[in-house]
Amino acid sequence: MKIVIEQDYQKMSDRAAAIIARQVICKPDSVLGFATGSTPVGTYNKLAHMNKEGLVDFSKVTTFNLDEYAGLDENDQNSYRYFMNQNLFDHINIDKENTHVPKGNLDNLNEVCAQYEQAIANSGGIDLQLLGIGHNGHIGFNEPGASLDSLTHVVDLSSRTIEANARFFESAEKVPRQAISMGIKTIMKSKQIILLCSGKDKSDAIYEALFGDITQQVPASILQLHPNITFIIDKDAAEKICAKGLDK
Ligand code: F6R
Repeated sequence: MKIVIEQDYQKMSDRAAAIIARQVICKPDSVLGFATGSTPVGTYNKLAHMNKEGLVDFSKVTTFNLDEYAGLDENDQNSYRYFMNQNLFDHINIDKENTHVPKGNLDNLNEVCAQYEQAIANSGGIDLQLLGIGHNGHIGFNEPGASLDSLTHVVDLSSRTIEANARFFESAEKVPRQAISMGIKTIMKSKQIILLCSGKDKSDAIYEALFGDITQQVPASILQLHPNITFIIDKDAAEKICAKGLDK
């Protein structure tokens, strides 16, 4: 496990973009796993810039997103498909046919989940998965208590996550109560993982993920067992780590 502490959000984002670009340069038909939320936006901006500069070519890349809200159409401005188009896919030379976000607006969500998991397997598996982390240690929408053995599945969102994500909606009442998420096992099967974390408000969560017990109560703590993971953290998020030192 590697821990990289960067000065600020921009440097964290640049570092992550460089690792993703290196992956695609070394393997042009890479399968990338992407996250939504505020944290990866700087990384996506940087990748779009690098693509425009001719430094990295996404034409053969396939992507799978971690999650999607249940019940939202992909044209809904709060859907994660819409987010990915706006923040990345519309700005790089990727074939949209090769970009996958779970479809949250279909009737049989369990079937959607099984097909999504199968599509990841059929692609050869995820070469590099990008993750953020929630205040309660969630990854994807795997909330505290989630099974460490789970594949892509339908989840009930915790009240803390609904509250945190309400900033994107008119009110907390409008936030969907369910989502589709890759499971922890799906994430752990990725060949390489980068987890990004920014801001003082995540300082406790990242500390617990890195140095706390491996427990279902902090889903990100399972990542301590991944053989090829890099945590890229800005200085604010590293506040508690730096205060306590790298030894537990
Ligand atoms: C979203 C996802 C979530 C976010 C997490 C942090 O696809 O997987 O686990 O990474 O909720 O969100 P932000 O970055 O908005 O703080």
